[in-house]
Amino acid sequence: MASNRRILGILIIICLLAQWACITSDEENTVPGKNGVVVSVDQYASQIGIDILKKGGNAVDAAVAVGFALAVTYPAAGNIGGGGFMIIRFPDTREAVAIDFREMAPAGATPNMYLDEKGNYDRAKSYLGHLAVGVPGTVKGFEYAMQKYGNLPWKEVIAPAIDLAENGFVLNKRRAKALNGLKQIQKLSKNFEDMITKSEEFFRIFSKPDGSEFVEGDIFFQIDLAESLKLISNQGSAAFYEGKIAELIARDMEKHRGLITKDDLAKYEAFVREPVKGNYRGYEIISMPPPSSGGTILIEMLNVLEGFELGAMERYGPEALHVISETMRFAYLDRAKYMGDKQFGDIPVKRLISKEHAQSIKEKIDLDRAIPSSEIGEDILTNEKAKETTHYSIIDKDGIAVATTYTLNGGFGSFVIAEGTGIILNNEMADFNMKPGYTDDKGLIGTEPNLIAPYKRMLSSMTPTIIVKDGKTFMITGSPGGRTIINTVLNVIINVIDFKMNIQEAVNGYRINHEWMPDVLIVEKEGINEEVIDSLKSMGHEIKTIRSLGDAHSICFDLGTGKYHGAADKRSSGSAIEY
Ligand code: DON
Repeated sequence: MASNRRILGILIIICLLAQWACITSDEENTVPGKNGVVVSVDQYASQIGIDILKKGGNAVDAAVAVGFALAVTYPAAGNIGGGGFMIIRFPDTREAVAIDFREMAPAGATPNMYLDEKGNYDRAKSYLGHLAVGVPGTVKGFEYAMQKYGNLPWKEVIAPAIDLAENGFVLNKRRAKALNGLKQIQKLSKNFEDMITKSEEFFRIFSKPDGSEFVEGDIFFQIDLAESLKLISNQGSAAFYEGKIAELIARDMEKHRGLITKDDLAKYEAFVREPVKGNYRGYEIISMPPPSSGGTILIEMLNVLEGFELGAMERYGPEALHVISETMRFAYLDRAKYMGDKQFGDIPVKRLISKEHAQSIKEKIDLDRAIPSSEIGEDILTNEKAKETTHYSIIDKDGIAVATTYTLNGGFGSFVIAEGTGIILNNEMADFNMKPGYTDDKGLIGTEPNLIAPYKRMLSSMTPTIIVKDGKTFMITGSPGGRTIINTVLNVIINVIDFKMNIQEAVNGYRINHEWMPDVLIVEKEGINEEVIDSLKSMGHEIKTIRSLGDAHSICFDLGTGKYHGAADKRSSGSAIEY
């Protein structure tokens, strides 16, 4: 019992750590660029992306370089021990591809692996330690992107990350604070034998040898990570999936009763997939298909909203917020019911993104009343009573556009670093549906399409998205935030298309989120207007406030200036750089 409370404490701190990446700053951070724009959560990474473009690299080279750099400078989410998605659009052919480097379940995974003896979901098991780790995809994904679409040699795009890991980088206030936050987790984990031993290597690397606090200006070195990056630079992804790194991961897994074997690593593949596409008020939406729910649910929501005169409503008035929230409610029910890895069963993407389906939802929305979520999802509800990721956007001088969202899932993933690798491993297994057949009003989903199975990819909400207008890339966007991601992306898109905001206003504007279950409308604190809230409550919405929702580093083309404008989200210390 005491240990349960401790775990809960640890999980709460992990959530807070994730939020520290999203503290409001007042800085306006929009830059226009003619030759290229890179917008990411981190100054080092954005600068590296620009340097690669200046060297003659294209947006894909830059995206891979930024991804490797973030694995060093933004260890809460940047990774090579996690996975993600990349949407790339080419201006000449006007074609787009989706690279899927999502993690997969190891061969030994089973649908009930996170249930205790009584059949209850043991949250800690799926979030902390070796059992939480999915077979990582990032290195294979980056290699695939470079081999197919990059210009520069592989070594050249990894070199800046090796330099940052080997020679260190300067911690800013936010990163120092995040690392100090880890100490609280370590303290709480005392007496929790399992976590102490499983996370020993992690806490060794992410604390100062003398036990003192990190401060702004400290130089942070990651020597083991530098060695792993060098192996990957010299041997390609084979170092990670078959060579020394695979060996070290498998050994650590065996030692700590994890499931991932050398064979699982060797079997991992990144795939190129056909993006999911839709149309919204004359704009083409290109986004991530399964195993993400992101693109499908985003397009479903946009289709529903197209049926309303959104632009004629007050952006943050009760009428618009109600319509948007109800749209989210219905679409997220579909997410819970139908979405999962397409290789393991039929996912009705075509139907969900059809205009007919949107029309049927529109007809169900009551303009005066919030429909209780239990009323529309009765068939899957068992008991009626009853985060870190990062996104970056890049465009180059030729107009190649890249939207990348990748993740360890929770802030700093599973708190596991396989000894000798310096690589933080994800806790992505927690994205599967945990309790087969059990869906409740707290947000636990137990539907079939996303149950655990060997080699299956867990359902994601990551929504890297490119929007095209008249054949030209118009906007690049995406966000972290777990299940809330799709709604963050929706908020940003309608801000631009319906409410005619510039990209910085659109990214900064406050957001709302409804996920069907739990049946609450979440509103960012900044947006609290008592009158509007009362009005929403009188329609039947239960309202909760949150400090910050998402972190949407985006780019948009401005007809006025004829340039791309990059906007770093004010919620984090992001960095938009152009040249
Ligand atoms: O793939 C997903 O949808 C989640 N694992 C993303 C996690 C996340 O965004 C947490 N960050 N705040």
